[in-house]
Amino acid sequence: MILVKSPREIEVMRRAGAVVGRFFEEVRPLILPGISTWDLELFADRFIARNGVRSAFKGYMGYTAHLCTSINEEVVHGIPSKDRVVREGDILSIDFGIVRDGFYGDSAMTFPVGAVSGVSSRLLAVTERSLAVGIGEVRPGNRLGDVSAAVQESVESEGFSVVRDFVGHGIGRSLHEDPQIPNFGKRGVGPKLMPGMTLAIEPMVNAGGWPVEVLADGWTVVTRDRSRSAHFEHTVAVTEDGCCILSIS
Ligand code: MF3
Ligand code: CO
Repeated sequence: MILVKSPREIEVMRRAGAVVGRFFEEVRPLILPGISTWDLELFADRFIARNGVRSAFKGYMGYTAHLCTSINEEVVHGIPSKDRVVREGDILSIDFGIVRDGFYGDSAMTFPVGAVSGVSSRLLAVTERSLAVGIGEVRPGNRLGDVSAAVQESVESEGFSVVRDFVGHGIGRSLHEDPQIPNFGKRGVGPKLMPGMTLAIEPMVNAGGWPVEVLADGWTVVTRDRSRSAHFEHTVAVTEDGCCILSIS
């Protein structure tokens, strides 16, 4: 069942999303060669306290951190660690979510660490653009399949692949609500979008093939062919005339 939010509830979600957006603005300049993903986790811990919000991920299904930090061939759900230090040429995905006044905000971005290869920088650009293209299909009357297909087409036309085993999701008073939002699919199918629906759209894009596997820690998802992967996510709301991005400040 897809829960439709009232305009007042959307306003609360906008304020929750704004905190997430501000986090990414503040963390971006810290992403330099030599920083560990644990340092970023400590920054997130202070950010959460300073903003008086609650962590969305810590404690969720036994997850132990505020952030997911996924380097290079890691797709999603990498766990921050003191011995994961990023180096020039790496790409680092950060996924962060919070709860404010009972509502969730969730967003992710992949950052280059210093100068990165041509393929890596294209992977980041293509993944970020695929999210924009998907968001561009969010309007009343369109179907979820229009969003999924648009993301898939924009990725595959660039020779990259979309992950099949993990999907985006509805979001609101829970981190994960209906509907599931695959980054692949067919136009014209799936639920019809209606004003008040709130969605976390999150393409995960691999430079090589789409298969992934989970490492022995039970969380870290990596590409099976160990090609690099990027991840961009926004929380958005369907409005009367289209959509608005909630996870920006
Ligand atoms: N953005 C991810 C999601 O939407 C974050 C979940 S990771 C977890 O599913 F650690 F919280 F499980
Ligand atoms: Co999400």
